[in-house]
Amino acid sequence: MSSVLKTDPLRDVIESDRAHVWHHIAQHKPFETVDPRIYVEGKGMRLWDAAGKEYLDAVSGGVWTVNVGYGRESIANAVRDQLIKMNYFSNAAGSVPGAQFARRLIEKMPGLSRVYYSNSGSEANEKVFKMVRQMAHRHHGGRKYKILYRERDYHGTTIATLSAGGQPQRNAQYGPLTPGFVEVPHCLEYRSQWGSIENYGERAADAIEEVILREGPDSIGALCLEPVTAGGGVITPPKGYWERVQDICRRHQILLHIDEVVCGVGRTGKWFGYQHFGIKPDFVTMAKGVASGYAAISCTVTTEAVFEQFKDDPSDPLSYFRDISTFGGCTAGPAAALENMRIIEDEALLANTERMGQRLLANLRELQSRHAVIGDVRGLGLFCGAELVADRQSREPVEEKMVQAVLADCIGHGVIIGATTRSMQGLNNTLCLSPALIATEADIDGITAAIDAALGRVFG
Ligand SMILES: Cc1ncc(COP(=O)(O)O)c(C=O)c1O
Repeated sequence: MSSVLKTDPLRDVIESDRAHVWHHIAQHKPFETVDPRIYVEGKGMRLWDAAGKEYLDAVSGGVWTVNVGYGRESIANAVRDQLIKMNYFSNAAGSVPGAQFARRLIEKMPGLSRVYYSNSGSEANEKVFKMVRQMAHRHHGGRKYKILYRERDYHGTTIATLSAGGQPQRNAQYGPLTPGFVEVPHCLEYRSQWGSIENYGERAADAIEEVILREGPDSIGALCLEPVTAGGGVITPPKGYWERVQDICRRHQILLHIDEVVCGVGRTGKWFGYQHFGIKPDFVTMAKGVASGYAAISCTVTTEAVFEQFKDDPSDPLSYFRDISTFGGCTAGPAAALENMRIIEDEALLANTERMGQRLLANLRELQSRHAVIGDVRGLGLFCGAELVADRQSREPVEEKMVQAVLADCIGHGVIIGATTRSMQGLNNTLCLSPALIATEADIDGITAAIDAALGRVFG
């Protein structure tokens, strides 16, 4: 490993963690007898834990985040320099890296022109919901306030974003949720709601229009969708879906909000997932990969047409977007994001993502040919999933504990992979892979070799 890690001082850290830290999305009972895993160092695609064990990280920090890999000194230096010069002022004023990053980002997003900074994916999405509601109040006589979201999609952890969440296990026990959010059907052809049909993509888009007509187009302000559904099962959109969705939104004057919190800034091999499908969104939100986890930053990006609606009446003190996010003024975020973007460009990581993504998909398909438990393989760029089934014919999902056994086996052998968890009852059966965009052929082959061996051991 790259530096000597003494276990004794870390014993103290582990005890402090066990005594006082409440981990995210974790049942803590096991930590009464088993140490929580604490990662202490990272370099490139690799991590080391407190016991000195090395891991290959196939999930970019667990949740699709560390896109340019660990240990990037140039990002740390850019952030350090910026913090010493000017660390913070409320984003009611401007900042040098904030202005520079906004320009660089907009260059990559034709048709969009305004960037609103905040701290998390959830918050970026809530900004859209607030904008849509305020536009409804100011410009549509209180109508067009509803937000449509899709079954199996996830948009965040706050009460409003959970209300826009199509994953019942994430929402359970946190109600009552916020009114004004309406679900549309998912678009996972492998689990088709209409049997085996030829034009599944168009049918799934038409199902959105059916909801619009039922609710009344006049009541709906925006449709919020992930370009590729992430935690809901790595769902790549079926052929013909996006063209029809865009057309439906235009005809009913519904704004299209694409949640790029996972796909944004390179994950799928293009800067943004929506850019694979030739669509023109009205809002794009992004977070995780924007600064690869080196600083907390999220962006809500929109068009000049939307922006104009918030400055049309300067005499009205309530007419503009009266929203503030304290840490949206931290300069560490855009400073890290600028350097993150430079790395992606200078190291040609979009092209690498496309190439390595194809390799990952091909390797998974090869595994599928040998392991009956892999029912479906899906993916775009370095964002892939393998759905595990007990029976290929009936497509009955494997039990969740078996999926977790595959994860445990891989991690036991030094490869960290992911799976859908606490999303949909009975359907948390998809292995998720999202290595950093710097992955090499050897990394990709190492990941799939670990899965191959794990499937053999778990399913025999
Ligand atoms: C598609 C999507 N949107 C939004 C979020 C919420 O982002 P955050 O956890 O930064 O609030 C997530 C988190 O996983 C996500 O996957």
